[in-house]
Amino acid sequence: MENLLEVRDLRKSFGATEVLKGVNFTMRRGDVVSIIGSSGSGKTTLLRCVNLLEEFQGGSIHIDGKPVGYVDDNGRRRRLSEREIARGRAETGMAFQQFNLFPHLTAAGNIMLGLTKVKKLGKAEAGGIAETWLKRVGLEGREDHYPGQLSGGQQQRVAIARAVAMEPKLMLFDEVTSALDPELVSEVLQTVKDLAQDGMTMLLVTHEMRFARDVSSKVVFMSEGRIAEEGDPKTMFADPQTERLREFLSSSVF
Ligand SMILES: Nc1ncnc2c1ncn2[C@@H]1O[C@H](COP(=O)(O)OP(=O)(O)OP(=O)(O)O)[C@@H](O)[C@H]1O
Ligand SMILES: [Mg+2]
Repeated sequence: MENLLEVRDLRKSFGATEVLKGVNFTMRRGDVVSIIGSSGSGKTTLLRCVNLLEEFQGGSIHIDGKPVGYVDDNGRRRRLSEREIARGRAETGMAFQQFNLFPHLTAAGNIMLGLTKVKKLGKAEAGGIAETWLKRVGLEGREDHYPGQLSGGQQQRVAIARAVAMEPKLMLFDEVTSALDPELVSEVLQTVKDLAQDGMTMLLVTHEMRFARDVSSKVVFMSEGRIAEEGDPKTMFADPQTERLREFLSSSVF
């Protein structure tokens, strides 16, 4: 299959409230797709379905041709086994608004944890990978710093390094700069940009409109649980086709 990610007619409800109302989109390897849209439109929920932090009630998600969470078994929907689900989850990495680093582990220790516990690498090899990634995100020499000794921007870069060190096929970013002081935003955006330039396939939710326009291969605009508009970022931002996107862009900061 050519597409790295295929989302088909995805439907998700919390109780009686449907928050994803049939979402369709695809990504190819190396694509950088930005999801934009107003608060409550379903952006986070969509990302959380892709790595199955949320269950979903309808439609399908495939990563590299393999179903996420459920398979169609002779027309009946069946949940995959926990082992299959765990294997699928390893295909994605995620970074959130809140960095969620372990406070009692150093920067290197945070990155090494998944490598030793999940990938079963030896300590020396995991340490080497941690060092390489810390360097890539501009934190050379910070291996032994604890999260409390790092700025918010540095902590977020450790969190991103921790996720990419696991070599996921797809990276998910959910507003990774929203919790940061303004002067720390650009260093994190630069890290994300570097990863994009290295060819990492990325699906990101962002309120940084200029970043979405300059870095994305495609922008997806969500409104009330649906994709209202999608396409080439420069065209979309210059010439929105829907009234909703026009309104959203006019109230956004560039
Ligand atoms: N665990 C939950 N239980 C019930 N409702 C939820 C839950 N999580 C999200 N929702 C609802 O689903 C809808 C979509 O939420 P979601 O967090 O995906 O929006 P969002 O686009 O990421 O918004 P924001 O820009 O504020 O982060 C909202 O109406 C929200 O209240
Ligand atoms: Mg959100």
